[in-house]
Amino acid sequence: MERKALYAGSFDPVTCGHLNIIERAARIFDSLTVVVGVNAGKKAMFDLEERLEILKEVTGYLPNVTVDTFSGLLADYINEKGFDVYVRGLRSTNDFENELHMAQMNARLFTGDTETVFLMTDPKYSFISSSLVKEVASFGGSIDGLVPEYVVSRIRSKLQEE
Ligand code: COA
Repeated sequence: MERKALYAGSFDPVTCGHLNIIERAARIFDSLTVVVGVNAGKKAMFDLEERLEILKEVTGYLPNVTVDTFSGLLADYINEKGFDVYVRGLRSTNDFENELHMAQMNARLFTGDTETVFLMTDPKYSFISSSLVKEVASFGGSIDGLVPEYVVSRIRSKLQEE
């Protein structure tokens, strides 16, 4: 039976930590859809189309990975498309607290048998967040190795535009 998985986030921008989760989930499941959503509480550097384009570029070498966008409730998107697994990455106990509540809320909202599955973030990426990357880059600090090279260049161009 084919196992369809989904990995969601705001990916503003996608980091090496995200990519590590994507690679591992793509190895475990038959197909993985990476969906970009808007977190209304966050001020974005890249608009939704740019984030989608960046994700396509950096996941292009993974044949069973596709990317998409969603708006509204993620559970509605999952119910409509029928995913078996919702993948989340865990970096710390702080993440765990939030993730537990989200997983329990989503479990009430899922109409099918979707399971939330957690992958532990590789320790070398556990301190990374998209906001921290943007902050360091905005003050001229090095973000090499924290985000894919393509993302480094996209961030540099964006900062030059601003
Ligand atoms: N490596 C590095 N960084 C990681 C990471 C990893 N493995 N996993 C998460 N992060 C970082 C992200 O970069 C992000 O950093 P930021 O806060 O600086 O932007 C942070 O951890 C949080 O990531 P995540 O938990 O994926 O949140 P998000 O804001 O990127 O996306 C949505 C969350 C969009 C999936 C969620 O808000 C959602 O589902 N929204 C739709 C509305 C909804 O359904 N709400 C009900 C939920 S129960």
